[in-house]
Order: sequence, then structure tokens, then C-alpha cells
Amino acid sequence: MIKKCLFPAAGYGTRFLPATKATPKEMLPVLTKPLIQYGVEEAVEAGIHTMAIVTGRGKRAIEDHFDISYELEHQIKGGSKEHLLSEIRGLIDRCTFSYTRQIEMKGLGHAILTGETLIGPEPFAVVLADDLCDCEEQGVLSQMVEVFEKYQCSVIAIQEVPKDQVYKYGVIDGNLVDGSEDTYRISGMVEKPEPEDAPSNLAIIGRYILTPDIFDIIRKTKPGKGGEIQLTDAILQQAKEGRVIGYKFKGRRFDCGSVDGFVAATNWFYDKSKD
Ligand code: G1P
Repeated sequence: MIKKCLFPAAGYGTRFLPATKATPKEMLPVLTKPLIQYGVEEAVEAGIHTMAIVTGRGKRAIEDHFDISYELEHQIKGGSKEHLLSEIRGLIDRCTFSYTRQIEMKGLGHAILTGETLIGPEPFAVVLADDLCDCEEQGVLSQMVEVFEKYQCSVIAIQEVPKDQVYKYGVIDGNLVDGSEDTYRISGMVEKPEPEDAPSNLAIIGRYILTPDIFDIIRKTKPGKGGEIQLTDAILQQAKEGRVIGYKFKGRRFDCGSVDGFVAATNWFYDKSKD
């Protein structure tokens, strides 16, 4: 059973300056919902109700979003706009949210390690909120929980990307598990390789289920690409022992960490809302 979901949310969001100067990038809205709310909804759909959020300076808006605003609720109670708060209110009622701060930005691996205090010794999910996913039947995390239940090891979401785009991602090496078209046993991983060094065009997307031994591995992981402690390098250690599955999820993913991806997501969800 996966009960907790970790959201690394301490990054500066420099690609969205000046919008992210005083507003966390996780709070940028696609239509009327902030990115991180989509991630929390995806976790809830996967049966997860404990949200662990790694924040940093200037991220208070995230905590306020997942809290009750009595003044606002009082103001709109009984009026035509009351329903606009029902979704977020439902999440607040069903989930617990806990927070810890990442004091220094030392990379995604370091952010995950910072969350250890909120997760403890159990397998957990990770959502990078700027990878916004939309699936027809079952959300990405829910699909991944089923894969985890079958293989009982770390699971990472992957997607084919054009070869000239691999430098933006962690890229995996591996073989399809017997009889499967979407499930790989991962043997290697490289963080943001040059296209000629990439082992494949299968890129890691910001959804992971990790076994808790990852924390000790991260503690021993030296800074890698960009001088940062890379989660990819830590998961590689599990992969070398055959303990990582790559799962090509069914659905669409938008890179909302880039302006292009953000606009594409906005158009996609807008068109969907009109259907
Ligand atoms: C992170 C990971 C990378 C992964 C990506 C997915 O990179 O380090 O392996 O492919 O998320 O979005 P970032 O986008 O934070 O630079």
C-alpha cells in the first residue's frame, strides 16, 4: 500500500520570472486550479491521502491553499460562487498536509532526502507538480500503484521523447519485461545526457514510486550533473540490483515548467472544459 506522496516544491521557477518572483511556481494556475492541486488530486485518485510537501522560502501560499479560509468561505456561503471552493475543500477534508523546508537548493535528490522526515520507512510516491498529466481512465499514479503492487520495487514513469530532447530529462536503459509492451526492467539511467550519449529515447517523467532504502542511497550519492545531488543517480543504484521498473504510462503529459508546455496544457484543459 502506498499511503504517502512527496511533492518537492522548493525550486525557484526561474523560467517563469517575473511571475514566480513572489508566487511559488506550483501555484501557477492552469485554468482556475494551481498546478500542485492537480498533483494532489492525482494522488488522491491513487488512494493516497497523506501529502508531504518540501517547500522553501517564499512558498507560504502553498500552505495557505491547502488550508481553510474562513473569511472567504463566510463571504461566499449560500451564493452562486460557493461551489467554486468545493473541490479544494473536499481535498482539505480528506487529506493531511505536512511540510518541511529545504534550506539549500542542492538538487532533486537532496529535496527527496529532505522529505524523509515526513515519509519514514515505507514506500512512497513522488509527484513533480510541473509535469502535469491527463489520462482518460486512470491517473498516472494510480496506474503506477498497480505496477508497484505487482513488482514490489521502485517504479518510475517514462515516456518516449524525440531524441534531440533527451538532454532535458533523465533517460533510461532497459528491456521490456517478458510479454509486456509498457513495462521495462531498468538497467541504466543517465541524467540529462547529450543525444549521442543517451541510452534510449525513454525519458523519466516526474512521477515515481520509491522504496525507502532510497534515502540511505541518496545520503551516499555524490553531486552529479550540474553539481546537484541527482535523484536519477540514486535510483541507478537500485536499478543495478534489478530493483527498478520503468512504466510507459497511458496518458498525456505537459511540461508546465516551460512556457510552451504551460500554454499547451492551458489550451488542452480549456478545450476539454468546453466539451
Ligand atoms: C527532473 C529529473 C529528471 C526528469 C525530470 C522530469 O529534472 O531530474 O530526471 O526527467 O525531472 O520532469 P528537472 O526537470 O527538475 O530538471
